[in-house]
Amino acid sequence: MTGSGSFSFGGRDVAAGYDDVMVPILFEPWAMRLLAEHDDWTGMTVLDLAAGTGVVTRELVERVGSEGGVIASDISGAMLEHARRRCEGSVPAVRFVEGPAHPLDLPDASVDYIVCQQGFQFFPDRPAAAREMARVLRGGGRVLASTWRPVDECELFGWICEALRAIDAPEIAELMRAPFDFLPETELRETFEGAGFRDVEVGVRSHPMASTGGVERAITIVYGSPIGPKLDELSEDRQAAFRTALTGLVERHTDGSTLGRMAANLLSARKGA
Ligand SMILES: C[S@@+](CC[C@H](N)C(=O)[O-])C[C@H]1O[C@@H](n2cnc3c(N)ncnc32)[C@H](O)[C@@H]1O
Repeated sequence: MTGSGSFSFGGRDVAAGYDDVMVPILFEPWAMRLLAEHDDWTGMTVLDLAAGTGVVTRELVERVGSEGGVIASDISGAMLEHARRRCEGSVPAVRFVEGPAHPLDLPDASVDYIVCQQGFQFFPDRPAAAREMARVLRGGGRVLASTWRPVDECELFGWICEALRAIDAPEIAELMRAPFDFLPETELRETFEGAGFRDVEVGVRSHPMASTGGVERAITIVYGSPIGPKLDELSEDRQAAFRTALTGLVERHTDGSTLGRMAANLLSARKGA
């Protein structure tokens, strides 16, 4: 996989930018849609894998109720710090596991369900991650995972890449493609089938990114994302040229009520009994 190596959520600033900017506009609405794919979470023990700042975790707590359990796992301690805050005082109490998706620091057959919103594409060895998911699930347990579709279908991020190429910053544009372009739908499906999952289904979901913030909001999103620190390293002139290029693209393609459409693959799969 190209490009994802230095796309990191590890720094404190990136975690704060993600939680302040990306979560409300993008990850929270998508978390609601993802969890609506399953009817009844009551009483389940659910692992939120690559939980980030805990937007899915917090919603799971509400859904499993006091008889259930929620575990939030992520490789980034900085991201989990926000998740801890978001889930403070929750019932049931969330168990936090800081560490990679593979190996996963959880016992065999210990969870009923795994939810992974926009994390699977970042795992360096995805077949190993899928095998770990199978290992920690109980028989009959399920996975629900979402991954973005190619950057051309996630329009704002496509325009960001175009604006970066326009100012001759192809290496940052390449980095920006990491969440989108390096996990084809067929590979997603085959990875779970290869790990022994049954009833593997991949569907496509597409929604506009609602925002009245226009180009100012778009620019906040870029600087709040993991490429923000790379942009900060560019000269003032190049950053200004980037903003001009992005402004032109956003204004050309939107009517001011959205920041374009986003599209995701949604995988569901079941572990055999
Ligand atoms: C786009 S964020 C999604 C976070 C969260 N699921 C949400 O919906 O807001 C991707 C997350 O994957 C985590 N991640 C990346 N590589 C990982 C790995 N190898 N193991 C576990 N988590 C990883 C990152 O730290 C980050 O929190």
